[in-house]
Amino acid sequence: MKKLFIRTYGCQMNVYDSTRIADVLAPLGYRPTDDAGDADMILLNTCHIREKAAEKLFSDLGRLRSLKAAREGMILAVAGCVAQAEGAEILRRAPYVDLVVGPQTYHRLPEMVAKLARGAGSLIDTEFPVEPKFDFLPDSATRSGVSAFLSVQEGCDKFCTFCVVPYTRGAEFSRPRDAILAEARRLIENGARELTLLGQNVNAYHGAPGGLGRLMRDLAALPGLLRLRYTTSHPLDMDDDLIAAHGDVPALMPFLHLPVQSGSDRVLDAMNRRHGVDDYRRIVDKLRDARPDIALSSDFIVGFPGESDADFAATLDLVREIGFAQAYSFKYSPRPGTPASSLNDQVPDDVKSERLQILQALIEDGHRAFNRDCLGRVMPVLFERSGRYPGQLVGRSPYLQGVHASAPARAIGTIMPVRITRIDTNSMAGEIETAEVTA
Ligand code: SAH
Ligand code: SF4
Ligand code: F3S
Repeated sequence: MKKLFIRTYGCQMNVYDSTRIADVLAPLGYRPTDDAGDADMILLNTCHIREKAAEKLFSDLGRLRSLKAAREGMILAVAGCVAQAEGAEILRRAPYVDLVVGPQTYHRLPEMVAKLARGAGSLIDTEFPVEPKFDFLPDSATRSGVSAFLSVQEGCDKFCTFCVVPYTRGAEFSRPRDAILAEARRLIENGARELTLLGQNVNAYHGAPGGLGRLMRDLAALPGLLRLRYTTSHPLDMDDDLIAAHGDVPALMPFLHLPVQSGSDRVLDAMNRRHGVDDYRRIVDKLRDARPDIALSSDFIVGFPGESDADFAATLDLVREIGFAQAYSFKYSPRPGTPASSLNDQVPDDVKSERLQILQALIEDGHRAFNRDCLGRVMPVLFERSGRYPGQLVGRSPYLQGVHASAPARAIGTIMPVRITRIDTNSMAGEIETAEVTA
């Protein structure tokens, strides 16, 4: 038996890919380990979305170099979006790396490992093959957590002017409905009770008639499945049937990550988001009509080239107006090869930092207020695992808040009503309302 250590950076899609990479390598005798020092293969599944994320790879590689030198025959592999974007550069800067494999070719890892065993030098595969990798991935044999990811869509055709994803992940591709249902059934058999459907533009899903709304209804009908989520959505693809599904598919959780990026039409236009602030407002209104208890989360970029004080103020106004339960915000990071990186009116870093701080404080206020409103309420909690203390379980509310409560271990994988009695910084605590364990 050989040991495989995977470190994952970036988005949930990379988290999903890492589990599939482990599946691909399992037939070669690789079993996962949490200890890099003990590994026969170390694979870094990388992210290229912002400069810091990519630079981190090279500092990590520097540290792993000595580990590799100390361990005869160890394979050092780089996968993911930096591999795709900078494959050749990785081998130039870190020639001790053995394998570089992009997000669309990791099903070829066994073949690459075999070539290495036959004495090949460093190998790189960053093609966008015509055959989708999903056709070649083995069934996942490993036990699933209560909450599992399932990729249904990949790639992006939107080309927002700041973003590398269309280049690192390639064109939009949707997996066929039957393959998704089969994988969902397998995950449920292996213990999953909640599925989060993943895609860079998950609501652009078109692998079956009816799009994501229809797929959601099909999945909700699977016995044993309790909860459904999906991420990340683009406002342009929020069609009426999907919005309606929020009203009539009870398994679909009332929490949606719907990035808007900016509250200024001028900036949205320069970002090539292809919708205005009013379009976003209309979508949120429709979602709230369909599902009054829906909460929203978003992503924001501050300091996009040309963003004025007034543009930034419009973003703050939108945050106040919508009342996000949560949001992520980033300083604009110029990415090589993207149109926005060569615009002239780049915003100075100190201005970006200041805006980020202001925006994050406002978002944090909203987040705290949202959590505070949960105090005293009874929420359905899906228990996922044991907590730190005996008799304690940890689960999640519909809004992805972590909730601790005393409950029997057999409640793991079930939903129970929990009255929220305490709000901490990163989680909440509560008490089970009834002794009944409901499935
Ligand atoms: N497909 C998703 C986003 C994927 S990237 C969407 O369209 O919303 C995740 C987030 O990273 C984006 O929403 C954006 O806020 C941020 N991001 C992407 N590129 C960035 C860049 N160059 N600089 C700063 N933040 C960026
Ligand atoms: Fe990037 Fe825009 Fe595509 Fe999202 S929609 S992945 S931000 S290009
Ligand atoms: Fe990063 Fe690639 Fe995801 S760039 S955010 S790992 S799609």
